[in-house]
Amino acid sequence: MKHLLSPLDFTTDELEQLLDLARDISKNRDKYSHRCDGKKIATLFYEPSTRTRLSFEAAMLNLGGSVLGFSSANSSSAAKGESVSDTIRVISCYADICAMRHPKEGAPMVAAAKSGIPIINAGDGGHQHPTQTLTDLMTIRELRGSLNNFTIGLCGDLKFGRTVHSLINSLIRYENVKFILISPKELCIPDYIRETLIDNNIPFEEVEKLEDVMPQLDILYMTRVQKERFFNEDDYLRMKNFYILDKEKMALGKKDMYVLHPLPRVNEISVEVDDDPRAAYFKQAQFGVYVRMALILTLLGLDKE
Ligand code: NCD
Repeated sequence: MKHLLSPLDFTTDELEQLLDLARDISKNRDKYSHRCDGKKIATLFYEPSTRTRLSFEAAMLNLGGSVLGFSSANSSSAAKGESVSDTIRVISCYADICAMRHPKEGAPMVAAAKSGIPIINAGDGGHQHPTQTLTDLMTIRELRGSLNNFTIGLCGDLKFGRTVHSLINSLIRYENVKFILISPKELCIPDYIRETLIDNNIPFEEVEKLEDVMPQLDILYMTRVQKERFFNEDDYLRMKNFYILDKEKMALGKKDMYVLHPLPRVNEISVEVDDDPRAAYFKQAQFGVYVRMALILTLLGLDKE
């Protein structure tokens, strides 16, 4: 059985097929509206979410299926001490596929080992967020036409931001992608990600000032400072407004640069940027539904007519 636990669970060819399917879905919604009739997705969210959970639910509903699940650990038997392994054995009797978000790194992998249905990692702690990566890849591919030959600046909380870790892991498989990692020293990428870049001979630089590198970027990927992963409130308060993308900084960027953000945004992108044609983060959220529809179909083996 196929699961999606890490963005590397799909080969680049499989990813291409999935992104083609997502594109076809975006253009021909009606064609897919009964593909999952009678199927159910369980959304097991042990951590807060708006977009990821609701986009999975919207995806399944758009395909004609239905949804069940919980949106916080408190409202599940986890509050009584049930293990993830036991929960998933039971959920396997109720649903056909499961999307799980958990604060503990590796929890969806533990679930997959005992699961009778495909498991999708919808974010595990500060580790990975593969379906956000699928969304990001679709966005870049739709906007630029290709996943090769560009410079991407990843800015903000690169230490705790799981979307950043997943995206870097995925993009290193494409050609001529250069990374500019923009963060304060305290929030720089974890060593294992830096080692991956070095081991694969991927060009990257680490800088602190966004303004200095803005003119070089084809994609600017902004992230929120991950308040919930800080050990101490004072450190968070010191970091939270480190980067604020505003009109002035946008003026330094290329005309055909795009700004992505996995959302939710806090202060790191000023609302005045929303009207700039290069702001692509709300479009990105829409692509997130199409890509999750494609993923559900692929994992359930319903992707071919
Ligand atoms: C991200 C996450 O949960 O990691 N959100 C999302 O799924 N779109 C980013 C974040 O919370 O900052």
